[in-house]
Amino acid sequence: MYTLRYMRPGDIPPVMAIDQLAFSTPWSANSYLFEINDNRSAHMVVLERAGEPPCIVGYGGMWLIEGEAHISTIATHPDWRGQGLGEVLLGGMVRRSMALGATYSVLEVRVSNVPAINLYRKYEFQIVSLRKGYYRDNNEDAYLMHLAPLDAAYAERFAARWRALQARVAFSDLLALGRPAAANRSPDFGGEPSNDPTTAP
Ligand SMILES: CC(C)(COP(=O)(O)OP(=O)(O)OC[C@H]1O[C@@H](n2cnc3c(N)ncnc32)[C@H](O)[C@@H]1OP(=O)(O)O)[C@@H](O)C(=O)NCCC(=O)NCCS
Repeated sequence: MYTLRYMRPGDIPPVMAIDQLAFSTPWSANSYLFEINDNRSAHMVVLERAGEPPCIVGYGGMWLIEGEAHISTIATHPDWRGQGLGEVLLGGMVRRSMALGATYSVLEVRVSNVPAINLYRKYEFQIVSLRKGYYRDNNEDAYLMHLAPLDAAYAERFAARWRALQARVAFSDLLALGRPAAANRSPDFGGEPSNDPTTAP
């Protein structure tokens, strides 16, 4: 059983462990903390597997600004891929963005990243342009992908996909509960907001 919920400061160490396995330029702890605590446009989420103790198997993030839902990051732990969990994360963020009034969604993806491109296509993202040399680590190009419009017709198609996913994966989507209250935030990480997460893949 899995739970999709907003990220808390205490989730940062396991999220960073997955980030480091998944990306060549992982975010810093302070980037995560900034996104969770200070960036009101940011919606950082985790997928937690029930157990003793529970463990984080994936995470994602988006920025919601004036109708645009920009997927900033998404990853599942390599040991847990291919089981529909990336779909829970992406679908959950799209679902949450629609509930909050987003009218379209955008993201960048490495042109070589076939699993991610397929995942995005499954939710009807389409390649709209190429960003030459977008990734600084190896100068790889990015596809800019758009999902639009997030209208009633899309919501209907989305609902069918979401039901199929619920039949495949046992999970609860708690994103509608919103961010944890500030009083519940743990002071695990202090310090200044530093890196600009927009530089991450
Ligand atoms: C992209 C990623 C999040 C997918 O996570 P996942 O948990 O394996 O994905 P799912 O099992 O939910 O698969 C969902 C869909 O993605 C696509 N997909 C997933 N793995 C794939 C693979 N190895 N090859 C081709 N398509 C794949 C399929 O369309 C799949 O749908 P299906 O199950 O109906 O075939 C995961 O591969 C990952 O963390 N990659 C590293 C980080 C990354 O590249 N993030 C994207 C940055 S833009």
